[in-house]
Amino acid sequence: MLRRPRRNRQSSAIRAMVEETTVSVNDLIYPMFVMEGQNLTTEVKSMPGIFRYSLDKLLDELAVIQDLGIRSIALFPQIPEAKKDKYATESHRQGNIYLESINAIKNAFPEICIMSDVAMDPYSADGHDGIVENGQILNDESLEVLAKMAVAQAEAGADIVGPSDMMDGRIGYIREALDDKGFINVGIMAYSAKYASAFYGPFRDALDSAPKFGDKKTYQMNPANIREALVEAELDYLEGADYLMVKPGLAYLDVIKTLNDNFNIPIAAYNVSGEYAMVKAAAQNGWLDGTRTMVECLTSLKRAGSKVILTYFAKEYAELVK
Ligand code: PBG
Repeated sequence: MLRRPRRNRQSSAIRAMVEETTVSVNDLIYPMFVMEGQNLTTEVKSMPGIFRYSLDKLLDELAVIQDLGIRSIALFPQIPEAKKDKYATESHRQGNIYLESINAIKNAFPEICIMSDVAMDPYSADGHDGIVENGQILNDESLEVLAKMAVAQAEAGADIVGPSDMMDGRIGYIREALDDKGFINVGIMAYSAKYASAFYGPFRDALDSAPKFGDKKTYQMNPANIREALVEAELDYLEGADYLMVKPGLAYLDVIKTLNDNFNIPIAAYNVSGEYAMVKAAAQNGWLDGTRTMVECLTSLKRAGSKVILTYFAKEYAELVK
């Protein structure tokens, strides 16, 4: 036998030397949840180890994760039901908990990259990502709200805005609105191939953001489709997106690879709440080695082609490699 592939696996040094994909903490974005109030830390039931924080507690936690080497976060707000309405007006009201938090984080931790979430659902009485009329999600009317939200977030100090709504034309619309206000250097991470997925359940628990009626299938994509992901990605690219995201990540590695092969801007993957919950649940039952499974999942996402990974495992991974 001339070819013995096992030779390159003989020692830890050799295995490390020939390792093709290594996840760096630099690649990770840590999603975090903020809520109104003071001195509050509530664990999300379906996401062990993940908490909703009031702003004071969030700032404490940011000091911890910055020490661990985490440099980027994605922030999501939990909004009290009483502040939700049809038009998600709370989303761009000056001084709302979300904008206040972005501002406070930027001041306290100027080096941390803050990615904001541009979508109506946390603020929408209907729990949808667009304005609802007669059971329909209105596209063009929703763009205006999204643009207002994005500009308010940029004003508050967001480095990157992340439209997660899947309305048509929103990247270009938001890009123009940001540029008009002089925010030419605020980036856009487009949730380009965002699927109508069952894996978002725990996140919706965390934010009480589940749709009040129906589902999101008229705007989020059918999990069966990949050619459509290329259409979405191309539009977002042409409209000025700086990153193209695939969401969820693990069940969509082929989509990540296809986008990475076809576009020369960074591809991001969202290792979503349900993917995190599955690993945690199995690990808590002693059915899986949680740490090894985490590393394998993150490595797979990177190997498939996502340079950037949004993951609830960011803190645990940073602790592991420190
Ligand atoms: C919607 C949004 C979703 C997530 C973040 N923003 C999905 C949804 O509720 O449709 C899910 C993230 C996760 O599951 O971790 N704007």
